[in-house]
Amino acid sequence: MGVLKKVLIGVGAVVGLGALGLGGFVFVTARAFDASMDKVYDQKPLDQIKASKDEAAIARGKHIAEAVAGCTSKDCHGKDLAGGNPLSMGPLGTLTGPNLTGGGVGAAYTDGELARIVRFGIKKSGKSAVFMPAQDFNWMNDEDLAALVSYLRSVPNVDKPNGPLKLGLLAKILDRQGALPIDVARKIDGKVELAGKPEATAAYGKFLAKSCMGCHGEGFSGGKIPGAPGDLPVPLNLTPHESGLKGWTQEDFNKLLEKGDRKNGKKLHEFMPIENYGLMDATEKTALFAYLMSLPPKPFGGR
Ligand code: HEC
Repeated sequence: MGVLKKVLIGVGAVVGLGALGLGGFVFVTARAFDASMDKVYDQKPLDQIKASKDEAAIARGKHIAEAVAGCTSKDCHGKDLAGGNPLSMGPLGTLTGPNLTGGGVGAAYTDGELARIVRFGIKKSGKSAVFMPAQDFNWMNDEDLAALVSYLRSVPNVDKPNGPLKLGLLAKILDRQGALPIDVARKIDGKVELAGKPEATAAYGKFLAKSCMGCHGEGFSGGKIPGAPGDLPVPLNLTPHESGLKGWTQEDFNKLLEKGDRKNGKKLHEFMPIENYGLMDATEKTALFAYLMSLPPKPFGGR
């Protein structure tokens, strides 16, 4: 056999084995994902959480739904909570937040089941919610959780079917690699740390900042969202580094959240939901900024 032929056969074998290996990896990974999404968790509904008709509780719940947890954002459950816009994420799939009003999911869930999905990412069926970022806001204490459920119960029923929810293979792989939390209950794994009363401190800001992580990264240094299509803007660096928020004041930060005006004079891309974050109160904005400023400065892009 000629040397060239031997080399070619060798290369062919390596490429072939590589493809088989990759195929096997993808298959095993997708199976593990599906099996995990089928798991029924032991965690019971939080029946101690009960909706009330108290006006102050409902107002607090509305604030949480809008400003803190972002339930009402257009790409999640929408302003009327009757379901969001279908969000096309290219090879990741298409996600639409369901209708939470009494005309939709709200009719099927008990108060305790609503509280359980917020805190542990577990659906009525006992299985994991898909992609709902409960890990971002499951730190709310019982009082705030009850307020949120009270607000959900107070909104008018809307008769609207749920939009499409389709996951691509890439989404399953990224989830299993820990790059994208889609299998929410597995991510949370029953572990929660609850916040105390709201206060204008970095310690409280740490909780609020969890909702920035899905886009800006768990290390807050920004970079492309794994698997996201190229036309989505890249989240920036929120640490006090030259490439991030170094030199920003509280006023600069508030202007960004309230008006979408960046310190460099440019307008913020609408992908970042400031229609929600802009509604944070002064205590929350101060706490959030104090926390970001307390982070170790990191160069852009490490996520
Ligand atoms: C849905 C994704 C998403 C979420 C959630 C999100 N951001 Fe952003 N953010 C972005 C993107 C994308 C950009 C860059 C936008 C652009 O280029 O105009 C950005 C830009 C910023 C900037 C501007 C930086 C600069 O140099 O001008 C700040 C500050 C910021 N985000 C803070 C936050 C904070 C604080 C939170 C959480 C409360 C948050 N973001 C949550 C996507 C997000």
